[in-house]
Amino acid sequence: MLDPERFSKASPRAFGFDTRAIHAGQRPDPYTGARAVPIFQTTSYVFEDAESAAAYFNLQEYGNTYSRIMNPTVATFEERVASLEGAAGGVAFASGLAAQAAALFTMLQPGDHIVASGALYGGTVTQLKHLSRKLGLEVTFVDPDDTAAWQRALRDETKLLYGETIGNPGGNVLDIRAVADVAHAIGAPLMVDNTFATPYLCRPIDFGADIVVHSATKFIGGHGTSIGGVVVESGKFNWANGRYPVVADPSPAYHGLAFYDTFGMYGYLMKLRAESLRDLGACMSPFNAFLFLLGLETLPLRMERHVENAAGVARFLQQHPAVERVRYAGLPESPYRPLVEKYLPKGAGAVFAFDLQGGREAGQRFIESLRLWSHLANVGDAKSLVIHPASTTHRQLSDDELVAAGISRTIAIVGLSSNVLRPSYFVGFYLQRHGYRIVPVNPNEREVLGEKAYSSLSDIPFHVDVVDVFRAPAFVPAIAKEAVRIGAGALWLQFGVISPQGAQAAEQGGLQVVVDRCMKVEHARHMGRMHWLGFNTGVVGSQRQSVL
Ligand SMILES: Cc1ncc(COP(=O)(O)O)c(C=O)c1O
Repeated sequence: MLDPERFSKASPRAFGFDTRAIHAGQRPDPYTGARAVPIFQTTSYVFEDAESAAAYFNLQEYGNTYSRIMNPTVATFEERVASLEGAAGGVAFASGLAAQAAALFTMLQPGDHIVASGALYGGTVTQLKHLSRKLGLEVTFVDPDDTAAWQRALRDETKLLYGETIGNPGGNVLDIRAVADVAHAIGAPLMVDNTFATPYLCRPIDFGADIVVHSATKFIGGHGTSIGGVVVESGKFNWANGRYPVVADPSPAYHGLAFYDTFGMYGYLMKLRAESLRDLGACMSPFNAFLFLLGLETLPLRMERHVENAAGVARFLQQHPAVERVRYAGLPESPYRPLVEKYLPKGAGAVFAFDLQGGREAGQRFIESLRLWSHLANVGDAKSLVIHPASTTHRQLSDDELVAAGISRTIAIVGLSSNVLRPSYFVGFYLQRHGYRIVPVNPNEREVLGEKAYSSLSDIPFHVDVVDVFRAPAFVPAIAKEAVRIGAGALWLQFGVISPQGAQAAEQGGLQVVVDRCMKVEHARHMGRMHWLGFNTGVVGSQRQSVL
């Protein structure tokens, strides 16, 4: 059987972080061959024809429609961050706070409860405390260092746990694995703000986080020029566990589309883009995405130097007679040392806090006396800053899979429905548009998508290359045996259709087998179409593409 895990591997060639920071997400422009990422400063995109336009808006096909929802420059940035974070994909926003708000808005509904670290960036605290409450959400803040406190704060309505990898400005380090375990035990996701660590120092998804948000304004941009944010998701959280009707149920805001059912591991991200970004409207500008992409190119170099410099200055201050104490997780005596060794082996970031002898007044005098460091409210710039927080701020198909997905032309879809909102219809519609002959196999249908429907595989009077299954796992063993009898080349079990017995029967009959994957998504990934929506396609290469 084809190992489903192989679909989620970033790339058959494992390019390292530094290489992906420069290349991930970009395909040199097929028309001009431009080496840099072009700034697609356009509001809208000319449709090929009326049918394509409708298919794009219905999310039946991957294509650009309007830059509030997607833009090729922004998509390159989204895919690059997703690649660096080891995520399924990303959606960019006009600011870090907009990214957070949209991430919450996409999964929660009035009456839900959030357990959040009590040591967050001030703007986030305000967002959680006031905006979320206005939306009918309850928030409990806990001591982030106390795993038992996270546990104690849980309620039946708890739908999210939220923390920062490195707290702003206190510098506390989140025990991501421990808090993720607390969240997963109740079927809730852990969302982590990774702004201060960046994926160079820590990749929260590797330790169990489900969603990662960034204020790109900071270290990602790195030069203090642009405000932006991004949300990435692991694609591994089960949004159909009964607790997230907002993500799993048919959406009234998208003519009844069930995002998780239809897009599987990309369901949350599709909803985040197609609904939340559409409705909240806080999109990233292409020009800002371009600047963030430039920032990402040097992220590894800057972070290395940031950490080195911060450690040097923290050590200097520690020994200074006018300094009462320095709080920096990077210092050897920090109580966070064990967590730093586990989560931040390359360094504890570049932000630290210190108290001066003489209190607030001495602090103000100190700030006003600085000649090179600026007094401002933005960390992560190449230019150093100082601020007094209290008074201011806080995944390619291998060749084998390609045989199953690409060069086969006739696909029998078992369970294909004529209901335009069913995932099977989405897949059939997409495959047909891409030149495949689809063969509906459904005793309840006479014709779907203009093709005659057959009651069973055995009734099909011509050769079938692939049998794609949209039926409950219990039916799969019988379908697999029938697929073997009619001499099909491959058995493809759609997202959520997991039947080890069925897979084994098909394999023993000489069929290639793919389990728990959407044929539409995998085809789009291979054809580079997912790239337009910021999904992590895992493609890293500098060859000029042919015009699609
Ligand atoms: C840790 C953290 N998260 C989120 C934000 C909000 O980001 P933005 O200012 O881009 O909206 C900030 C901004 O300072 C921050 O420091």
